[in-house]
Amino acid sequence: MAKRYTVTTALPYANGPLHLGHVAGVYIPADIYVRYLRAKGEDVVFIGGTDEHGVPISIKAKKEGVTPKQVVDRYHKSIKESLKGLGISLDVFGQTSSSIHYDMASDWFKKLSSDGVFTESVAQQYFDEENNQFLADRYIIGTCPNCAHEEAYGDQCENCGTSLSPTDLVNPRSTLSGNKPILKETKHWFLPLDQFEGWLIDWIESKKSLLKPNVYGQVKSWLDAGLHPRAITRDLDWGVPVPVEGGEGKVLYVWFDAPIGYVSFTKQLLENDPNRNWEDYWKKPGNSKLVHFLGKDNIVFHSVIFPSMLKSMGDYILPQNIPANEFLNLEGDKFSTSKNWAVWLDDYLNDFPDKTDVLRYVLCSILPEQKDADFTWSDFQAKNNNELVANLGNFVNRALVLTNKYWQGEVPEKESLTEQDEAVIDQMNQYPQKISSSIEKHRYKEALGELMKLSSLGNKYLAETEPWKLIKEDENRVKTILNIAVQITAKLSILCEPFLPETSAKLKAMLNLKTLNWESLEEENIPSGHKINTPSLLFERLDDSVVEDQRLKLQKAKAEAEINEKDVEPQKGTTSFDDFQKMDIRVGTIIEAEKIKKAKKLLKLTVDTGIDQRTVVSGIAKFYKPEEIIGQQVSILVNLAPRTMLGIESEGMILMAENNQGELQFISPSSKVNNGAIIA
Ligand code: MF3
Ligand code: ZN
Repeated sequence: MAKRYTVTTALPYANGPLHLGHVAGVYIPADIYVRYLRAKGEDVVFIGGTDEHGVPISIKAKKEGVTPKQVVDRYHKSIKESLKGLGISLDVFGQTSSSIHYDMASDWFKKLSSDGVFTESVAQQYFDEENNQFLADRYIIGTCPNCAHEEAYGDQCENCGTSLSPTDLVNPRSTLSGNKPILKETKHWFLPLDQFEGWLIDWIESKKSLLKPNVYGQVKSWLDAGLHPRAITRDLDWGVPVPVEGGEGKVLYVWFDAPIGYVSFTKQLLENDPNRNWEDYWKKPGNSKLVHFLGKDNIVFHSVIFPSMLKSMGDYILPQNIPANEFLNLEGDKFSTSKNWAVWLDDYLNDFPDKTDVLRYVLCSILPEQKDADFTWSDFQAKNNNELVANLGNFVNRALVLTNKYWQGEVPEKESLTEQDEAVIDQMNQYPQKISSSIEKHRYKEALGELMKLSSLGNKYLAETEPWKLIKEDENRVKTILNIAVQITAKLSILCEPFLPETSAKLKAMLNLKTLNWESLEEENIPSGHKINTPSLLFERLDDSVVEDQRLKLQKAKAEAEINEKDVEPQKGTTSFDDFQKMDIRVGTIIEAEKIKKAKKLLKLTVDTGIDQRTVVSGIAKFYKPEEIIGQQVSILVNLAPRTMLGIESEGMILMAENNQGELQFISPSSKVNNGAIIA
C-alpha cells in the first residue's frame, strides 16, 4: 500500500498579519518536510488555514465597528498571500468560518455527544444584565487582587502577569456596559481528559524515541501533573453553535473547533478529486501518517486534547509526530504585536521582492528547534554575504562559467580519476543520505548545514585543483574536474529544493536539468555531452545600508507604538509669542536634595540657576532618590511667582516629562551647558 502523509500547520488567528516568528516556528520546517516527501515520491496533503474564532477576534471587530467575519476574511486573504509569496507550498488554506468547517465541527460534537463522551456541568459565571449575555473572561475588567492594577482582565493582569479567573477580580466591571456583572448559572460541556490519562501516557511513552526532547518533556510534565476535564463550550455568539439540546446561545470553544479545521480543510481539498478520498488521509486503515507542525505554546492541544478527540471519534488515526518548535526572538526581544516589535512577512516580501530564498535560508539556519533563537538583521546580512554569496553562489558560478568558457556549455567527459577525484565523488554521494536522515528526524538546521557542506566540498575541490591554471597544460584533467563540479552542482540543485525552491528552479534552468526526484540522486545526474545554459548570479551581496534601514524601521515602528499606547493629550489653545516670552526658563543644576517629612511625593532641592542658588520644592520623590540627582542639570522656570508648600518657600518650577506610566523625567540639555543658559 502506498504511504500517505497528512502534514498540518498550526492555524494562525486571523486577526493580524504573520511575522517571522510564525514563519520560523511552523511554516518553514513544515514546507521543507513536505517538499522533501514529495521529491521522494510520497503522497502528501499539506494543510493550512486560519483560526477565525475566539474572543480577541470579536473584540477587534467591535473596536473597528465591523463584523467578525469581515475581520477574518481580510486577514485570511493577506496571510494566504504572504505565505504564497514565501513559497510555502500548502495544498489548501482554509477558514474555520467556512460552511464546510461548521458542518464538520458540528458533526464531531454531535457524534461525541451522542456517544456519551462529554460530561456536562453547571457553574456560576458573570453575566451582563444590560446586554443580556454571559461574559467571556476578556470582557470583564476589575482590580487585580495581586497588584491593585485597576484594569486587569478576567483571565490575566497585564500589569503583574498573574493569571486570574474572573471571580478573583475586585470590583469587576463588564467591558460591554461598564456595569457590575452578576453571577448566573450556565451549563457547559467538558472533555473528560482525566478519563484519557491512561492511554495518553502509554501512547506518549511509545513515541518517546520519535518525539523531539522539547516536545516529550512538555507533554510529560502535563501528564505528570494530572489531567482535568476541560470545558469545550462557551457563552458567546461568534463561533460554531453548540448543535445539541440546551446549546442555544453557546458556541464551541475555539480550541475544540480549530484543530478539526485540519480535517475539514482536507475534505475541502479533496472533495472534488476523483482519485483521492479525504478519509484515507485521516482514518484507519488509510495507511496515512499525520504530522503536526506548531509552536511550543500549542503543544498540549496537539499532544493531549486533539488526540483525545481523534481517539474518541473511533476510526481516526493519531499523530505520528508533533515536531514543535520553541520561539524566535527579534534582536534580543520577544516578538510583540502590541509593541509593534516584529518583522512582518508581507513587509519583508515588499522590501526584498526577489529574496524569498534568502529569508528561507536565514530562518532555517536559526530555527528554534531545541531552544529559543534570535533573528537579527546583522546576522541576516552575514549569512547572505558569507554563506549564500561566498559559498553556494560562488561555487555554482565558477563551475558553470568555466564549463561554458572552455567547452561552450557542453559538459565534458571524465577522463581518468585521481584519488582526490574519487574521494570527492564518494563524499558527494553521501550527502543525499545525510540530508534525508536529518530531515526525517526533523532536524532542519542540521540538514541545511549538510547541504552547505556539499557546496563547500565543491569550492574546496576547485580551489585545490585550480582548473583555470591547469587548462593550458592538461586539458583532460580539467575535463574531469569540471565534470565532477557539474555533478555536484546538479546534486545541489535537487537537494536544495526543499529549502530554497527558487534557487533550485534557477539552478535547474541553468543546468538544463528536468528532474527533481530524489531517486535520481543515486545515479550520476548529468551525462557528458549534455548542454547547459549560461549561468547568472544566484545571490547578491547586501550592503550595510540595507540592513541599517531595516533596523531603523524596527525602531521607528516600536517608538510609534509606544507613543500611541497612551492617548496623547490634545493640543492646548494658542498662545502668543509675547506670552511665551514672559516665561524665563533656564538651565540649572541641582546641588542639594533632601526628603521632606510628611510629604511622600516631594523633595526639597537647591538649584544653582546661574543667577543665584535657590530652593525649589518638586513632586519627584517617587521617581528619584535625593542622592542620585545631585549634579543633575534641569530646566527651571525661574520667574514663577514663589509659593509656600509645607512651610517651605519654593522659588521656581522644575520642568518634567511624563511618560506613559505616569513617571516623571528631567528635561536636560543633551550635553552640559552653563547654569543660567536661556531656554527659548
Ligand atoms: N490559533 C492558534 C494559535 O495561534 C493555533 C491553532 S492550531 C489548531 O495559537 F490546532 F487549532 F488548529
Ligand atoms: Zn496585577
